[in-house]
Amino acid sequence: MKKVLVATEKPFAPVAVEGIKKVLDKAGYETIMLEKYTSVDELLQAAAGADAMIIRSDKASREVIEAAPNLKIVVRAGAGYDNIDLAACNDKGVVAMNTPGQNSNAVAELAFGMALYAARNGFNGTSGSELRGKKLGIHAFGNVGRYVAEIARGFGMEIYAFDPFVSGADMEKAGVKPVDTVEELYKTCKFVSLHIPANDKTKESINHALLSLLPKGGMLINTARKEVIHEGDLLKVMEERPDFRYLSDIAPDCREEIEGKYAGRFVFTAKKMGAQTAEANINAGIAAATQIVNFFEKGDKTFQVNK
Ligand code: 3PG
Repeated sequence: MKKVLVATEKPFAPVAVEGIKKVLDKAGYETIMLEKYTSVDELLQAAAGADAMIIRSDKASREVIEAAPNLKIVVRAGAGYDNIDLAACNDKGVVAMNTPGQNSNAVAELAFGMALYAARNGFNGTSGSELRGKKLGIHAFGNVGRYVAEIARGFGMEIYAFDPFVSGADMEKAGVKPVDTVEELYKTCKFVSLHIPANDKTKESINHALLSLLPKGGMLINTARKEVIHEGDLLKVMEERPDFRYLSDIAPDCREEIEGKYAGRFVFTAKKMGAQTAEANINAGIAAATQIVNFFEKGDKTFQVNK
Protein backbone atom coordinates (compact mmCIF):
# COMPACT_ATOMS: atom_id res chain seq x y z
CA MET A 1 0.00 0.00 0.00
CA LYS A 2 1.44 3.38 -1.03
CA LYS A 3 1.99 5.79 1.84
CA VAL A 4 1.38 9.48 1.19
CA LEU A 5 2.69 11.92 3.78
CA VAL A 6 0.85 15.21 4.05
CA ALA A 7 3.39 17.41 5.85
CA THR A 8 1.98 20.84 6.57
CA GLU A 9 3.50 23.02 9.24
CA LYS A 10 0.63 25.38 8.38
CA PRO A 11 -2.30 22.95 8.03
CA PHE A 12 -4.89 22.85 5.28
CA ALA A 13 -8.51 23.55 6.27
CA PRO A 14 -10.08 20.33 7.65
CA VAL A 15 -12.45 20.14 4.69
CA ALA A 16 -9.44 20.05 2.35
CA VAL A 17 -7.80 17.28 4.38
CA GLU A 18 -11.03 15.27 4.05
CA GLY A 19 -10.93 15.77 0.28
CA ILE A 20 -7.28 14.70 0.06
CA LYS A 21 -7.99 11.56 2.11
CA LYS A 22 -10.96 10.71 -0.07
CA VAL A 23 -8.83 10.81 -3.24
CA LEU A 24 -6.07 8.73 -1.65
CA ASP A 25 -8.49 6.26 0.00
CA LYS A 26 -10.17 5.66 -3.34
CA ALA A 27 -6.80 4.77 -4.85
CA GLY A 28 -6.10 2.40 -1.95
CA TYR A 29 -3.31 4.58 -0.54
CA GLU A 30 -2.61 5.34 3.10
CA THR A 31 -2.62 9.00 4.19
CA ILE A 32 -0.18 9.99 6.92
CA MET A 33 -0.80 13.41 8.43
CA LEU A 34 1.93 15.54 9.97
CA GLU A 35 0.51 18.95 10.83
CA LYS A 36 1.87 21.87 12.85
CA TYR A 37 5.19 20.12 13.38
CA THR A 38 7.79 22.16 15.18
CA SER A 39 11.08 20.46 14.32
CA VAL A 40 12.80 19.12 11.22
CA ASP A 41 13.29 15.85 13.09
CA GLU A 42 9.55 15.25 13.11
CA LEU A 43 9.47 15.77 9.37
CA LEU A 44 12.49 13.51 8.82
CA GLN A 45 10.89 10.72 10.84
CA ALA A 46 7.55 11.00 9.07
CA ALA A 47 9.23 11.12 5.65
CA ALA A 48 11.13 7.89 6.32
CA GLY A 49 8.24 5.63 5.29
CA ALA A 50 6.68 7.81 2.58
CA ASP A 51 6.29 6.89 -1.09
CA ALA A 52 4.92 10.34 -1.82
CA MET A 53 4.70 13.69 -0.08
CA ILE A 54 2.33 16.62 -0.22
CA ILE A 55 3.75 19.84 1.21
CA ARG A 56 2.99 23.57 1.26
CA SER A 57 5.80 25.99 2.09
CA ASP A 58 7.38 23.15 4.08
CA LYS A 59 11.03 22.67 3.23
CA ALA A 60 11.73 19.57 1.17
CA SER A 61 15.46 19.94 1.73
CA ARG A 62 18.13 17.46 0.65
CA GLU A 63 18.07 16.09 4.20
CA VAL A 64 14.33 15.42 3.94
CA ILE A 65 14.56 13.87 0.45
CA GLU A 66 17.43 11.64 1.56
CA ALA A 67 15.56 10.58 4.71
CA ALA A 68 12.85 9.03 2.53
CA PRO A 69 14.32 6.04 0.69
CA ASN A 70 10.99 5.06 -0.90
CA LEU A 71 10.07 8.56 -2.01
CA LYS A 72 9.10 8.80 -5.68
CA ILE A 73 7.20 12.07 -5.82
CA VAL A 74 6.85 15.29 -3.84
CA VAL A 75 4.05 17.70 -4.70
CA ARG A 76 4.03 21.26 -3.51
CA ALA A 77 0.32 22.05 -3.11
CA GLY A 78 0.71 25.56 -4.45
CA ALA A 79 2.65 27.56 -6.98
CA GLY A 80 6.16 28.39 -5.75
CA TYR A 81 8.52 25.44 -5.46
CA ASP A 82 11.56 27.31 -4.17
CA ASN A 83 11.16 25.23 -0.99
CA ILE A 84 12.01 21.99 -2.80
CA ASP A 85 15.65 21.02 -3.31
CA LEU A 86 15.33 20.08 -6.97
CA ALA A 87 18.95 18.95 -7.29
CA ALA A 88 18.38 16.49 -4.43
CA CYS A 89 15.20 15.26 -6.14
CA ASN A 90 17.14 14.76 -9.38
CA ASP A 91 19.91 12.89 -7.56
CA LYS A 92 17.39 10.56 -5.91
CA GLY A 93 15.13 10.15 -8.97
CA VAL A 94 12.25 11.89 -7.21
CA VAL A 95 9.66 13.72 -9.32
CA ALA A 96 8.81 17.20 -8.00
CA MET A 97 5.56 18.91 -8.98
CA ASN A 98 3.52 21.97 -8.11
CA THR A 99 -0.19 22.63 -8.61
CA PRO A 100 -0.18 25.84 -10.64
CA GLY A 101 -3.21 28.10 -10.52
CA GLN A 102 -5.03 26.23 -7.76
CA ASN A 103 -4.58 28.82 -5.02
CA SER A 104 -4.08 31.89 -7.20
CA ASN A 105 -7.40 33.60 -6.60
CA ALA A 106 -6.90 33.47 -2.84
CA VAL A 107 -3.48 35.14 -3.16
CA ALA A 108 -4.86 37.79 -5.52
CA GLU A 109 -7.72 38.60 -3.14
CA LEU A 110 -5.25 39.07 -0.30
CA ALA A 111 -3.01 41.35 -2.39
CA PHE A 112 -6.01 43.48 -3.18
CA GLY A 113 -7.34 43.38 0.35
CA MET A 114 -4.01 44.67 1.68
CA ALA A 115 -3.96 47.48 -0.91
CA LEU A 116 -7.48 48.53 0.01
CA TYR A 117 -6.70 48.37 3.73
CA ALA A 118 -3.57 50.49 3.33
CA ALA A 119 -5.26 53.01 0.99
CA ARG A 120 -7.82 53.57 3.78
CA ASN A 121 -5.07 53.97 6.39
CA GLY A 122 -5.84 50.70 8.12
CA PHE A 123 -9.47 51.76 8.68
CA ASN A 124 -8.25 54.07 11.45
CA GLY A 125 -10.85 56.76 10.91
CA THR A 126 -8.65 59.22 8.95
CA SER A 127 -9.17 60.20 5.32
CA GLY A 128 -7.59 57.72 2.96
CA SER A 129 -7.67 57.48 -0.81
CA GLU A 130 -9.61 55.50 -3.40
CA LEU A 131 -8.34 52.96 -5.86
CA ARG A 132 -10.50 53.97 -8.83
CA GLY A 133 -8.48 55.66 -11.54
CA LYS A 134 -5.14 54.84 -9.88
CA LYS A 135 -2.37 53.00 -11.70
CA LEU A 136 -1.68 49.44 -10.65
CA GLY A 137 1.45 47.65 -11.85
CA ILE A 138 1.46 43.88 -11.92
CA HIS A 139 5.00 42.59 -11.74
CA ALA A 140 4.76 39.17 -13.45
CA PHE A 141 1.55 38.30 -15.24
CA GLY A 142 1.05 34.67 -14.24
CA ASN A 143 -1.92 33.01 -12.59
CA VAL A 144 -2.04 35.34 -9.58
CA GLY A 145 -1.31 38.46 -11.63
CA ARG A 146 -4.25 37.68 -13.92
CA TYR A 147 -6.64 37.42 -10.98
CA VAL A 148 -5.28 40.67 -9.56
CA ALA A 149 -5.98 42.33 -12.91
CA GLU A 150 -9.53 40.97 -12.93
CA ILE A 151 -10.24 42.39 -9.48
CA ALA A 152 -8.54 45.70 -10.32
CA ARG A 153 -10.75 46.11 -13.39
CA GLY A 154 -13.78 45.91 -11.12
CA PHE A 155 -12.31 48.72 -9.04
CA GLY A 156 -11.77 50.91 -12.12
CA MET A 157 -7.99 50.95 -11.84
CA GLU A 158 -5.65 51.56 -14.76
CA ILE A 159 -3.69 48.33 -15.03
CA TYR A 160 -0.15 47.82 -16.30
CA ALA A 161 1.99 44.70 -16.28
CA PHE A 162 5.56 43.67 -16.90
CA ASP A 163 6.39 40.06 -17.73
CA PRO A 164 9.09 39.13 -20.23
CA PHE A 165 7.51 35.67 -20.59
CA VAL A 166 4.02 36.87 -21.58
CA SER A 167 3.17 38.57 -24.87
CA GLY A 168 1.82 42.09 -24.93
CA ALA A 169 -1.16 40.87 -26.95
CA ASP A 170 -2.03 38.40 -24.21
CA MET A 171 -1.96 41.19 -21.61
CA GLU A 172 -4.04 43.49 -23.78
CA LYS A 173 -6.66 40.76 -24.14
CA ALA A 174 -6.93 40.84 -20.35
CA GLY A 175 -7.42 44.61 -20.34
CA VAL A 176 -3.87 45.27 -19.18
CA LYS A 177 -1.31 47.66 -20.68
CA PRO A 178 2.03 45.92 -21.24
CA VAL A 179 5.23 47.81 -20.44
CA ASP A 180 8.61 46.88 -21.90
CA THR A 181 10.80 47.29 -18.86
CA VAL A 182 10.46 46.68 -15.18
CA GLU A 183 11.69 50.22 -14.56
CA GLU A 184 8.79 51.61 -16.60
CA LEU A 185 6.34 49.65 -14.46
CA TYR A 186 7.72 51.08 -11.22
CA LYS A 187 7.99 54.57 -12.66
CA THR A 188 4.39 54.54 -13.90
CA CYS A 189 2.44 52.85 -11.14
CA LYS A 190 1.68 54.06 -7.64
CA PHE A 191 0.63 50.56 -6.61
CA VAL A 192 2.88 47.64 -7.59
CA SER A 193 1.83 44.07 -6.86
CA LEU A 194 4.64 41.53 -6.93
CA HIS A 195 4.13 38.05 -8.39
CA ILE A 196 7.60 36.90 -9.35
CA PRO A 197 8.98 33.56 -8.16
CA ALA A 198 12.06 33.37 -5.93
CA ASN A 199 15.00 32.04 -7.91
CA ASP A 200 18.64 32.90 -8.54
CA LYS A 201 17.67 35.64 -10.99
CA THR A 202 14.98 37.30 -8.87
CA LYS A 203 16.45 37.09 -5.36
CA GLU A 204 17.02 40.60 -3.94
CA SER A 205 16.05 42.04 -7.33
CA ILE A 206 13.55 44.49 -5.83
CA ASN A 207 16.12 47.04 -4.84
CA HIS A 208 16.68 50.71 -4.13
CA ALA A 209 16.99 51.64 -7.82
CA LEU A 210 13.59 50.13 -8.58
CA LEU A 211 11.70 51.23 -5.47
CA SER A 212 12.97 54.79 -5.80
CA LEU A 213 11.18 55.05 -9.16
CA LEU A 214 7.72 54.69 -7.61
CA PRO A 215 5.57 57.82 -7.88
CA LYS A 216 4.67 59.80 -4.76
CA GLY A 217 2.61 57.69 -2.36
CA GLY A 218 4.06 54.51 -3.86
CA MET A 219 3.01 51.22 -2.38
CA LEU A 220 4.65 47.82 -2.88
CA ILE A 221 2.40 44.81 -2.26
CA ASN A 222 4.30 41.57 -1.81
CA THR A 223 2.39 38.31 -1.83
CA ALA A 224 5.30 36.56 -3.56
CA ARG A 225 8.40 35.80 -1.50
CA LYS A 226 10.45 37.82 0.98
CA GLU A 227 13.66 36.67 -0.72
CA VAL A 228 12.97 38.78 -3.80
CA ILE A 229 13.30 41.96 -1.75
CA HIS A 230 16.69 43.51 -1.04
CA GLU A 231 15.98 44.26 2.61
CA GLY A 232 18.85 46.69 3.11
CA ASP A 233 17.50 48.72 0.21
CA LEU A 234 13.94 48.41 1.47
CA LEU A 235 14.99 49.95 4.77
CA LYS A 236 16.83 52.71 2.93
CA VAL A 237 13.72 53.55 0.91
CA MET A 238 11.52 53.45 4.03
CA GLU A 239 13.90 55.96 5.59
CA GLU A 240 14.31 58.22 2.55
CA ARG A 241 10.68 58.31 1.47
CA PRO A 242 8.06 58.87 4.17
CA ASP A 243 5.41 58.50 1.45
CA PHE A 244 6.38 54.89 0.62
CA ARG A 245 4.49 51.94 2.08
CA TYR A 246 5.33 48.25 2.12
CA LEU A 247 2.61 45.62 2.44
CA SER A 248 3.71 42.04 2.68
CA ASP A 249 2.22 38.63 3.26
CA ILE A 250 5.68 37.42 4.18
CA ALA A 251 7.17 39.65 6.83
CA PRO A 252 10.76 40.62 6.13
CA ASP A 253 13.63 39.61 8.39
CA CYS A 254 13.87 43.32 9.23
CA ARG A 255 10.26 43.32 10.47
CA GLU A 256 11.10 44.62 13.93
CA GLU A 257 13.05 47.56 12.58
CA ILE A 258 10.20 48.53 10.27
CA GLU A 259 7.62 48.10 13.02
CA GLY A 260 9.72 50.16 15.40
CA LYS A 261 10.41 53.07 13.07
CA TYR A 262 7.70 53.34 10.44
CA ALA A 263 4.31 53.10 12.12
CA GLY A 264 1.37 53.26 9.73
CA ARG A 265 3.50 52.58 6.65
CA PHE A 266 3.45 48.80 6.53
CA VAL A 267 1.08 45.87 6.70
CA PHE A 268 2.39 42.42 7.62
CA THR A 269 0.11 39.40 7.98
CA ALA A 270 0.40 37.25 11.09
CA LYS A 271 1.60 34.32 9.03
CA LYS A 272 1.90 33.84 5.28
CA MET A 273 -1.78 33.54 4.48
CA GLY A 274 -2.31 34.40 0.81
CA ALA A 275 -3.36 30.84 0.07
CA GLN A 276 -4.96 30.28 3.45
CA THR A 277 -8.59 29.86 2.41
CA ALA A 278 -10.73 26.75 2.46
CA GLU A 279 -11.22 27.06 -1.30
CA ALA A 280 -7.52 27.33 -2.10
CA ASN A 281 -6.70 24.49 0.30
CA ILE A 282 -9.32 22.26 -1.31
CA ASN A 283 -8.22 23.12 -4.84
CA ALA A 284 -4.48 22.75 -4.24
CA GLY A 285 -4.71 19.80 -1.81
CA ILE A 286 -7.00 17.73 -3.98
CA ALA A 287 -4.99 18.58 -7.09
CA ALA A 288 -1.83 17.41 -5.31
CA ALA A 289 -3.43 14.13 -4.22
CA THR A 290 -4.86 13.55 -7.71
CA GLN A 291 -1.49 14.25 -9.33
CA ILE A 292 0.13 11.68 -7.05
CA VAL A 293 -2.46 9.02 -7.92
CA ASN A 294 -2.15 9.79 -11.63
CA PHE A 295 1.63 9.59 -11.39
CA PHE A 296 1.64 6.18 -9.74
CA GLU A 297 -1.27 4.70 -11.70
CA LYS A 298 -0.70 6.21 -15.15
CA GLY A 299 2.86 7.54 -15.12
CA ASP A 300 1.43 11.04 -15.60
CA LYS A 301 4.15 13.65 -15.04
CA THR A 302 2.20 16.77 -16.00
CA PHE A 303 3.29 19.62 -13.71
CA GLN A 304 6.72 18.10 -13.07
CA VAL A 305 9.11 20.98 -12.34
CA ASN A 306 12.45 19.13 -12.20
CA LYS A 307 12.70 17.99 -15.81
C1 3PG B 1 2.32 29.38 -3.17
O1 3PG B 1 3.48 29.41 -3.61
O2 3PG B 1 1.48 28.60 -3.65
C2 3PG B 1 1.87 30.32 -2.10
O3 3PG B 1 2.94 31.09 -1.67
C3 3PG B 1 1.15 29.65 -0.94
O4 3PG B 1 1.98 29.08 0.02
P1 3PG B 1 1.38 28.27 1.26
O5 3PG B 1 0.81 26.99 0.73
O6 3PG B 1 2.52 28.05 2.18
O7 3PG B 1 0.30 29.08 1.89
